[in-house]
Amino acid sequence: MALVLGIESSCDETAVAVVRDGYDVLSNSVASQIAKHAAHGGVVPELAAREHLTALIPTLQEALSNARVTLSDIDAIAVTQGPGLIPALLVGLSFAKGLALGNNIAYVGVNHFIGHIYGAFLDEANRALEDKASYPLLALVVSGGHTSLMLIDEHGQSTALGYTIDDAAGEALDKGAKLLNLGYPGGPVMQKTAEGGDPHRFEFPRPLTGAAGKPLAEENRYNFSFSGIKTALLYHVKKYADSEGRLPESLLKDTVASYQEAVVDVLTRKTLAAAKDTNAKTIVVAGGVACNSVLRERFEKLTPPGVRLRLAPRKYCTDNAAMIGGVGYHYWKRGEFSTFDIDSYARLPQITRIPFLA
Ligand code: KG4
Ligand code: ZN
Repeated sequence: MALVLGIESSCDETAVAVVRDGYDVLSNSVASQIAKHAAHGGVVPELAAREHLTALIPTLQEALSNARVTLSDIDAIAVTQGPGLIPALLVGLSFAKGLALGNNIAYVGVNHFIGHIYGAFLDEANRALEDKASYPLLALVVSGGHTSLMLIDEHGQSTALGYTIDDAAGEALDKGAKLLNLGYPGGPVMQKTAEGGDPHRFEFPRPLTGAAGKPLAEENRYNFSFSGIKTALLYHVKKYADSEGRLPESLLKDTVASYQEAVVDVLTRKTLAAAKDTNAKTIVVAGGVACNSVLRERFEKLTPPGVRLRLAPRKYCTDNAAMIGGVGYHYWKRGEFSTFDIDSYARLPQITRIPFLA
């Protein structure tokens, strides 16, 4: 048996978790800073770093206490190394190094993006990750920072098929909500506002789908683009806004429903086309935007029979440390740990191997 302590601080959630044998989440503590950043309409990196500094120790204490363990029971520490906001990452990474050194525990830096994919497999009994029939596995990671499609084969080789060439889908929802004065973060508030609205009343663009008579260049077959949807919203607001620059209540619901529909339509259409092209046996949908009910229902409706759909459980969609601890377990199994000289990284590096497979 192995107990891994996961630590996550890449953005605005301070998270610590205890994971047993890679899948059983004994505790999953998350201290959200959303209220602190909401006034700024987005995450302020230095503010995030300072908040991590004060939240890490109480969050660690809570995670250990909820799991009914102490630091002396922990076999390894897994910490988010990147990608993310550097000031925020540095706090978590330094904390993990100190904890590892002070308690003589091995530690490993984990990729946050891979963590999101892993989140779809936590808490599970049947261990689909280790089942060869699950591959090729196509993962859509869709969050505030990412919108990427990654294909993983049964040997753990991974290929980045596509990514966003401008904004991430979550960013498009966050910026859209800001434009409409709905608050932060945009994803959940857009979903709520859209309820009961007509998603087909307004036609927002579907960039890089070959729609609107624009042929799709082969290199963009699996790429995404969301900045055009946001610009279309800006013009839409200009056209319909009242003298105070606000949309009348009668139009707001339908506008938000139509905007959300454009994002959901692009994400599902491109992912399902990629799954077909690559003969994927499993589709994983993970990351904060995977919380979205309309997106989840659409994938459930459109995923063809014979393809397994794994929507990450909602609590493991948004940033958490259980997904980091889970990935860390697979490093522990192989005795692969980090040295104390590792640094944080802001951008997603090229990933050619996924460490949760042999
Ligand atoms: O994974 P995450 O917590 O952080 C990043 O790694 O970026 O994702 C945060 C993103 C935000 O853009 C937020 O608006 C979006 O996830 N989000 C949602 C929902 N809940 C969170 N988007 C759509 N619908 C939701 N229910
Ligand atoms: Zn994330």
